[in-house]
Amino acid sequence: MVESLEVNAVEGKRERYAALLPQLCALMEGETDPVANMANCCAALRQTFGFFWVGFYIVKGTGYGVRGTGNPSPYPSPKGRGNSEDVAFVLQEKNELVLGPFQGDVACTRIGFGMGVCGAAWQRAETIIVPDVDLFPGHIACSSSSRSEIVVPVLADGRVVAVLDVDSDRLDDFDDDDREGLRAVAAIIAPMLQ
Ligand code: SME
Repeated sequence: MVESLEVNAVEGKRERYAALLPQLCALMEGETDPVANMANCCAALRQTFGFFWVGFYIVKGTGYGVRGTGNPSPYPSPKGRGNSEDVAFVLQEKNELVLGPFQGDVACTRIGFGMGVCGAAWQRAETIIVPDVDLFPGHIACSSSSRSEIVVPVLADGRVVAVLDVDSDRLDDFDDDDREGLRAVAAIIAPMLQ
């Protein structure tokens, strides 16, 4: 395992990602714990790029909710069995994004499906770059200093299992180099969260 990163002398963002990725792999070699590896990813990304905030939100089951119309009780209505109001309901596991390892200021702990930039990236299963967070409908402001943001889904077998969220205190701070570099980081973490 490497204990320090050799990236500071590397010029250019794309080149820095390219230099960082093999070092990240070396850092994780022999370590299978996802929390430990996500924590080191965040530290390495912040150390390399000076990100304002970088962290993972992990998709987690948080109990059961109900979906449908009619009687929300799992029991038949007094009208008896066979009532169409009853059968319209199904019990459904409710998932949320829950805060995982991160570097930066304290942040909100739970984000619903489709909520904020993170929930939208989860819903769409695609990377979202937000050049100005004030212009993103429903943006969740964990810090008033955050100005732009990128959220990359962590995909395992085509399923979103987490998102990698990076915030900047400058407008329009993320581009395709970040998209590609952070997607590569997400791909390293994905098998550990299956
Ligand atoms: N801004 C995010 C919330 C997480 S914080 O940025 C750390 C969002 O809108 O989902």
